[in-house]
Amino acid sequence: LEDAFSKCFAFHLGGNPNSSSQLIITQNNTSYQPLLQSSIRNLRFSNTSSSSTRKPKLIVTPKNVIHIQSAVVCSKRQGLQVRVRSGGHDYEGLSYTSDYQNQPFIIIDLSNVRSITVNLEDETTWVEAGATLGELYHAIASKSYVLGFPAGTCPTVGVGGHISGGGFGTIFRKYGLGADNVVDVIMVDSNGMILDRTLTGEDLFWAVRGGGGSSFGVITAWKVNLVHVPPTVTIFEISRTLQDEDASTLFQKWQKVADKLPGEMFLHAVMGVGNVTLNNGSSSKIVTFSFSGLYLGEAENVTILMNNTFPELNLQRDNCITMSWIQSVVYFAGYSMNTSMDVLLQRNQTFRSFKAKSDYVTQPIPKFGLQGLWNILLEENQNAPVLIFSPYGGRMREIPDSETPFPHRNGIIYGIQYLVYWDYNEETDEHVEWMRRLYEYMKPYVSRNPRAAYLNYRDLDLGMNRGGGNGSSYEEARSSWGRKYFKNNFERLAKVKAAVDGGNFFRNEQSIPPLFATT
Ligand code: FDA
Repeated sequence: LEDAFSKCFAFHLGGNPNSSSQLIITQNNTSYQPLLQSSIRNLRFSNTSSSSTRKPKLIVTPKNVIHIQSAVVCSKRQGLQVRVRSGGHDYEGLSYTSDYQNQPFIIIDLSNVRSITVNLEDETTWVEAGATLGELYHAIASKSYVLGFPAGTCPTVGVGGHISGGGFGTIFRKYGLGADNVVDVIMVDSNGMILDRTLTGEDLFWAVRGGGGSSFGVITAWKVNLVHVPPTVTIFEISRTLQDEDASTLFQKWQKVADKLPGEMFLHAVMGVGNVTLNNGSSSKIVTFSFSGLYLGEAENVTILMNNTFPELNLQRDNCITMSWIQSVVYFAGYSMNTSMDVLLQRNQTFRSFKAKSDYVTQPIPKFGLQGLWNILLEENQNAPVLIFSPYGGRMREIPDSETPFPHRNGIIYGIQYLVYWDYNEETDEHVEWMRRLYEYMKPYVSRNPRAAYLNYRDLDLGMNRGGGNGSSYEEARSSWGRKYFKNNFERLAKVKAAVDGGNFFRNEQSIPPLFATT
């Protein structure tokens, strides 16, 4: 298979096996293992030596769209499945592993396809899929301090997977998702055709902006509109533990106001577990909260705003720090205040094993519901559970649910991401089971019919395509994970899939199944 693939690939590139062979890394090549591991961001899936079937037959490292095209054409011809990897952050490892035991697959690894061209004149940028968010933000800020882009906070995330699944961050209440700001695309479809927006047509262009690229083809580049950010933004962080009298009140109030604040204000809440020393000298676990804010404007204005709308937070001028937008990107990426923006160019960070899930909330959770949640957080053995509550509203409320496949818009007050981390060699089941218990507990307090979830926080517990990706019906996929990620947009996605990839070449454990029109 590997040989046949390599020959086909060389043939497509004009017959020069020397130049093409450097782009194909097979299992007996010494760089295979380091390359495979290079962007595995969830160490739960890093032990690829445990089973030969879950490893790719080979990894293609294209440098341009023609290489990508050749990889698609040749893998189709040889009956090889394709996994596309941009930044490797898929929560369930779907960009580099496969649960389908009998289907050999290759990885198309886009880490060398990452050029970024910022155009100040029309305030747009062409960004290739293998670039990271950090590289994108850095490229924009290197040219202008008053332009930015609304996408996620983690700088190592790849724009290929991120934008094709939505992509939200600290300025999405003002400007929407990364996907909402895409104006053109270059992609390779299942026939190996290179398409831009004029060739995709509006249905396919719609589908890849939130429906997940991996069901429809290989995204090579996005053209995105940049957004205006003020020269000065303000950040603040207020922390509490459950021991503090006002902690529970603050969270209750946060639930009521966070989605109603102006779009310029992003105030998210993070819950975790810390340790406190008791009077008798022993230590005990305690639930911690922090409210982190980013305001697109001056500190004076944010203190007035918060004291009018959320006086319980008691935000003072002293709590606020002003900086440029790009410096706030560095700060929200977890670096200390004065770190150079060059840190955004680092592609490697330390990662751990984790399991995550997501929910959307349409009514504030009552006090007794929160108390139960805190008890469950304290049950997690040793490790660090983290819950991130991201307020919606603002621009997200104005964009119709059907504008892109990402449907979580009007009516959502906030989204929750539940995360539990552990060290690589610890027992996985215990933490995953704890996460499932937490998710079950939250059921009465979150959205229902469907219980919505965010595609980019992929969760295979919601359901998986059977039979190597071809065995599940549209109905099965729809009722298990389809409506949860996409609500009423799932049907349109499945129809687009039938039109552009009726043979289901691009398939994985949660790819969109084709839905053919019945006559
Ligand atoms: P990866 O390469 O693993 O791809 C993810 C999926 O997209 C896979 O199915 C893959 O096949 C497919 N894909 C990738 N490139 C493609 C391409 N070029 N064409 C077609 N299909 C392609 N999200 C968010 O909205 N806001 C945030 O702030 C964060 N923060 C964050 C932090 C950390 C540490 C992690 C691990 C994840 C996030 N995320 C996030 C979630 C993130 O948006 C999600 O995991 C993205 O799918 C990651 O895209 P990558 O390209 O990095 O992943």
